[in-house]
Amino acid sequence: MTWQYPAMADNDSRSGMRYDSDAIRDYVTRTHAGHDTALAQAFAVPADMPAIQVGPSEGKLLFLLARMIGAKQIVEVGTLAGYSAIHLARALPPGGMLHTIEFEPSHAKVAQANIDAAGLGSVVTLHVGAGRDVLPTLAGPFDLVFIDADKINYDFYGTWAIEHVRRGGLVIGDNAYLFGELVDDSDRGRAMRAFHELVAAACDSVCVPTPDGLVIGVKK
Ligand code: DHB
Ligand code: MG
Repeated sequence: MTWQYPAMADNDSRSGMRYDSDAIRDYVTRTHAGHDTALAQAFAVPADMPAIQVGPSEGKLLFLLARMIGAKQIVEVGTLAGYSAIHLARALPPGGMLHTIEFEPSHAKVAQANIDAAGLGSVVTLHVGAGRDVLPTLAGPFDLVFIDADKINYDFYGTWAIEHVRRGGLVIGDNAYLFGELVDDSDRGRAMRAFHELVAAACDSVCVPTPDGLVIGVKK
């Protein structure tokens, strides 16, 4: 058997064991990341929208991370129905603002209604358009950028985020395992790996083993 450097995998440590189950995930989600009316409304995407929002624990983690660093100016790429936007906006201190970008106008309409229903209309600016077009119109610096949009553009989004996040601010990316395709020889795989490597170079970073991986970087 080939020797592997222990830090490269969990082969030599029980820390890599997965002990979760449906019942355990249900229990911890109920205990720590329960939904109030506004979150429940945004989580329940309409039938004609893809149910690809972050899970309740990732949403709560976004809220906690934003609150821990006192994030006042936040950017989100990929609004969908506004579920993660509500988590992020709830962490804002007075005077803070979340800019969230959604490509699909019909999704943006649903998101705006959910954000308004959550009472967050005045602290969230929803931009309808492509991240590549909208991001260059936003003036930083920002405290936190959360990327959860089209995966082929993660290298563009990551480059923008690193340029516009302040020192000590956070760059976060969902779907960092790329649905299991992260190390594939594909354009999306290359874009997502470029994102990982950009964040690793510019930040103190980790890829948290959520179901599809969540990159978190603290800008150096
Ligand atoms: C998809 C996108 C996401 O951001 C996600 O978290 C899950 C799935 C998708 O495009 O299929
Ligand atoms: Mg996602």
